[in-house]
Amino acid sequence: MVDRRARLAALCGIACIVAACTDTEAPSEPAPAPTHGAAGIGDAYYPEAGNGGYDVDRYEIDVRYDPGEHELTGDTTVVARASQDLSQFHLDLRGFAITSVEVDDEPAEFTREGAAELVVTPANPVREGTEFRTRVRYEGTPVVANRGQLGGNGWYRTPSGGAYVFGEPESASFWYPANEHPRDKAAFSLTATVPEGWTAVSVGRTGKATTKDGWTTTTWTEDTPVASYLTLFAVDKFDVETATLADGTPVRNVFSPGADTSRAAAEHTPRIVEFLESHFGDYPASTVGGVYLDTNPGFALETQGTPTYPLDADADLLVHELAHQWYGNSVSVHSWADICLNECFAGYATWLWAEETRDADLDARYRTQVANMSDGLWSLPLYDMGAGNEFGAVYQKGPVAVHALRLRIGDEAFAEVLRRWPTEHAHGNARWEDFEEFVEQVSGEDLDEFFQAWFRGTERPAEEHLHPKPR
Ligand code: TRP
Ligand code: ZN
Repeated sequence: MVDRRARLAALCGIACIVAACTDTEAPSEPAPAPTHGAAGIGDAYYPEAGNGGYDVDRYEIDVRYDPGEHELTGDTTVVARASQDLSQFHLDLRGFAITSVEVDDEPAEFTREGAAELVVTPANPVREGTEFRTRVRYEGTPVVANRGQLGGNGWYRTPSGGAYVFGEPESASFWYPANEHPRDKAAFSLTATVPEGWTAVSVGRTGKATTKDGWTTTTWTEDTPVASYLTLFAVDKFDVETATLADGTPVRNVFSPGADTSRAAAEHTPRIVEFLESHFGDYPASTVGGVYLDTNPGFALETQGTPTYPLDADADLLVHELAHQWYGNSVSVHSWADICLNECFAGYATWLWAEETRDADLDARYRTQVANMSDGLWSLPLYDMGAGNEFGAVYQKGPVAVHALRLRIGDEAFAEVLRRWPTEHAHGNARWEDFEEFVEQVSGEDLDEFFQAWFRGTERPAEEHLHPKPR
């Protein structure tokens, strides 16, 4: 932010000097020339993720997908507000041939750069503060999933001939042009058309399906801001079961043809939500349920309101993904270095669930895990772990560190932290540093050394941090 301001100020300075020297007719305060929006939003780990110069309000996506042909036709409008005068800006999109780009209904020039950058030059510069609509029409064969540190990002095929696209840190750009970074959350609406007999599934509330000329169309709307990696597109011969929670939240469980082994776990959904609410406050998403796949991409993903599960999902996995609805989805990372805000807490939710449902002795579990932690794991920090290492330690060391925090500040302050953090940052973004500060404020303690030892450090914490004395 500071960098960009400084750069803009410098550019403005040059523009003003040039105008003053060369054009005696110049108005006394010439407007600065519009400039290019940055190719990335400013995430140190993923310099090209997201884009600068605007903030998306809403995606209006229209896709037609034929699983038989594995061909997609897209027509997406990105409604955004400019945060600078823009002569050019980027969107993120992977694969496809682009048929046309329009900005505010005027044809715009465009080029592709690298794997994901769509560079748009509008016919007229977009003025700072104005809302503008970028419509992109595209078609072609989607990009298949690569292998990331966890599940891959991109498109997968299912045994029954269906397909789905999900992933973290990116997945939207595999099926619609986006500002692909959790820092720019936006409302989401989708009109999806698939051949009759297939069912398309996404996130948010869904409208009634209509069928015409052998194609079935459904709409999906999520007005709660959603990070783009938390949206989903899945097509299969799904079995869809719907219900409602006591508070009226729609439940939608979507089962792939071979996903019967996950049905028992899905039945725990209302109870798990209620349990998590008892720790984290009101459920923050507008829908609940799950998409139960009949493949194993390696991991589940906490897609908003409707997590996506691999084969053989169990209740613990539901607890983890549903906990993300608070820790990760409502409160989203500011940068990917902050990932422990998501995973350390979703991981710890399963400890709380074990405490509640199996009477697990968490102190004993903590001692065992501390005793068995490998030097390799101790060496991986939970904060600012470096690009590509985001998921290296958060699952194993993360919940142990969170329990250490509980021991350090006591049950009461810990419970207050767990509940107030998602409430105070609801539907926003936060940094790991914000969390450290917040915990110090709630507990009234100086925790610099504790956080250094457990979350930032690269070795086994000293005894005083491993076994903090109860206050
Ligand atoms: N956030 C996911 C979870 O904890 C894990 C995950 C990371 C993932 N990267 C992914 C899942 C890529 C699928 C694809 O549940
Ligand atoms: Zn997770």
